[in-house]
Amino acid sequence: MRLMAIAAMVIYLSGASSNFAIAEISSDYGQIKGINISHRGASGHAPEHTLHAYELGNVMDGDYIEIDLQMTKDGELIALHDETIDRTTDKNGLVKNLTLKEIKKLDAGSWFNEAFPEKKSTEYVGLQIPTLREVIERFGSDSKFFIETKSPEVYPGMEEKLINILSEYNLIGVHQTFGNVIVQSFSGESLRQIHQIDESIPLVQLLSYYAPAIITDSEISKIKEYAVGVGLHYTAVSPGYIKKVTDSGLMVFPYTVNEKEDMNMLLEWGVTGMFTNYPDRLNEVIQSRISKNP
Ligand code: G3P
Ligand code: CA
Repeated sequence: MRLMAIAAMVIYLSGASSNFAIAEISSDYGQIKGINISHRGASGHAPEHTLHAYELGNVMDGDYIEIDLQMTKDGELIALHDETIDRTTDKNGLVKNLTLKEIKKLDAGSWFNEAFPEKKSTEYVGLQIPTLREVIERFGSDSKFFIETKSPEVYPGMEEKLINILSEYNLIGVHQTFGNVIVQSFSGESLRQIHQIDESIPLVQLLSYYAPAIITDSEISKIKEYAVGVGLHYTAVSPGYIKKVTDSGLMVFPYTVNEKEDMNMLLEWGVTGMFTNYPDRLNEVIQSRISKNP
């Protein structure tokens, strides 16, 4: 396995084709199955971006844990979607103005009980915001990570910190299993910075289309210079868009798909995988498709 990973990286770095890298990541899946990405963990069931939600994502057989990154005042990478702590904790403020010690005092679970009383649990009260290190230490060898650099313009240097941590835990570099870590961002600049430091990391360019998505040959060529795939809102994609992008050799990962009907339709249209708050639902859809296409 390790030799395969190194071979994949050598071929990828040699510029032979991003298609080889894609095959390494998606070959086990194909059109019937699709890669199942637990969006902020199994965040339809438990408070997003807590170890509890990530654990549930694994229990529900998600293939990847999705992690959004923010950076504290003292330079620690933490798993959080928003630039502020307002929505998902018991206090208010900007992450960039708070130290890790201050972040660790926050209750990142009780908001979920209030927002979703039908799903509430006493276990969620007082859950902490995890650091990236804590997530890796808890799940590192057993999980795959789809990591997003959030608001990189607010956090200069976050890319280097991310790579240092991934490297320290042997998730990238010669010890990596290729594709176990994918880095995604809406910022092409942030992704390019990642590749300036380590060109072997597979990258996904997030796109913020909300109208029917259109992509030109020239845009595809530019994205292929550094990325192996794109991610965009699921309501923006069409069969034609998916065919054009996947025919070019790029993978397509719509977000955030929570209804079975949409999951099935997108798999039918040929997406590579998708982000979902309900990895259990996506697995049910996949199992049903497998049973119909043995
Ligand atoms: O990373 C894919 C998707 O999560 C992008 O949207 O806002 O949920 O990070 P957001
Ligand atoms: Ca995200």
